[in-house]
Amino acid sequence: MKVLVVGGGGREHAIIRKLKEGHPDLEILCAPGNGGISADAECVAVSAVDVEGMVALAKDRQVDFVCVTPDDPLALGMVDAMKSAGFAAFGPDQAAARIESSKVFAKNLMKKYGIPTAGYEVFDDPAKALDHIRTVNRYPAVIKADGLALGKGVIIAMNESEAEAALQHLMVDRAFGESGSRVVIEEFLSGTEVSVLSFTDGKTIVPMVSSMDHKRVNDNDEGPNTGGMGTIAPSPFYTAEIADRCMKEIFLPTMKAMAAEGCPFSGCLYFGLILTADGPKVIEYNSRFGDPETQVVLPLLEGDLLAIMRACASGSLKPDMAAWKEAACACVIEASGGYPGSYEKGKVISGLDEAGQHEGVTVYHSGTKKENGKYLTNGGRVLGISATGKTLAQALATAYEGVKEITFDRMHFRHDIGQKALKGNNA
Ligand code: AMP
Ligand code: GLY
Repeated sequence: MKVLVVGGGGREHAIIRKLKEGHPDLEILCAPGNGGISADAECVAVSAVDVEGMVALAKDRQVDFVCVTPDDPLALGMVDAMKSAGFAAFGPDQAAARIESSKVFAKNLMKKYGIPTAGYEVFDDPAKALDHIRTVNRYPAVIKADGLALGKGVIIAMNESEAEAALQHLMVDRAFGESGSRVVIEEFLSGTEVSVLSFTDGKTIVPMVSSMDHKRVNDNDEGPNTGGMGTIAPSPFYTAEIADRCMKEIFLPTMKAMAAEGCPFSGCLYFGLILTADGPKVIEYNSRFGDPETQVVLPLLEGDLLAIMRACASGSLKPDMAAWKEAACACVIEASGGYPGSYEKGKVISGLDEAGQHEGVTVYHSGTKKENGKYLTNGGRVLGISATGKTLAQALATAYEGVKEITFDRMHFRHDIGQKALKGNNA
């Protein structure tokens, strides 16, 4: 059996490790992959957004199954292209991927089917958008670009001048191109954020263990938003009672709504939730595994990931295919100094072997390359040091033992991953 994994970050590394755990003999290609992934899979230099190139690779290497994980190729219809070429593929088709690639689509879906989310209005004219914000006159105001924007399309404006600047940036300067031609302006929700990834084949939905991301770059949730600086699983705030409520009010209704709209979702559907005083509400959907959520969720999976992915693709998913370890997992991201702004690449990384020798630690590579036997930094987020433990406190202590072993010039990481969860306080 030969599998092609599309992408090249820590998330893909975690998926590949889990696939191998269930099937040590599985042949895995990863395109484009990265330095660290090359130790676990054959990396092929095809860009993740090159749909034709990826189909050609699948044909050339006669793969049996394709797993498309990043948001851009999903939005470009890579799964549709693979299926048309006769390949079984994990991931939503282009129509279903709109749940992430268009915030307007997602918000309208939630409104139509009564799925709890923040109240909102849609605008394609910056002057009307600003008028609306002035009239409502309630801050923070949440402004979201309709399309994909590298995780930077959400701006929380604290006053009118910040709102005006945000609209200028997204709609007039088109910082993210066409993604900013329309914006959603929505109510600010407060509460604890929790992420729930799920497997679904469009008819059955199987939530994974919950997780909690840490999006700001610095300790105490200071500094700009990033793709995620660390994660823990499970989230202690996501109780069994809340999980039941989410299943009834959010997960099942979303899956059914997508089918009713003629675009059933198959793949990994990610629910970004906020636990408000009025109950759980959806902040965002992603059409894919989260990064670095995957690096804490998959280590806790007891089940055959390949079988689950194939069942999602073929419409034969069963709830008992996935079970979850009674344990906790934590992941600390080591990033290049300067990220999420500009940063340098090509710094030599040391201590990788030493970190991996700590029991329970797994080092996932996000942005590395291998040259002359050495690993060099090659991205903003460089490594994810992940550890499992009986308790969250143990998992965190072990992950930070691993973190301490690794050095590279201008390395940056957060020291407080999981602290709010440990204290049971997310104020
Ligand atoms: P997103 O890129 O959609 O995940 O949004 C980035 C972050 O903005 C989220 O993780 C939240 O912290 C915050 N956010 C988005 N929408 C809202 C909202 N309606 N109310 C409060 N915070 C929000
Ligand atoms: N860590 C958040 C995401 O993958 O969107």
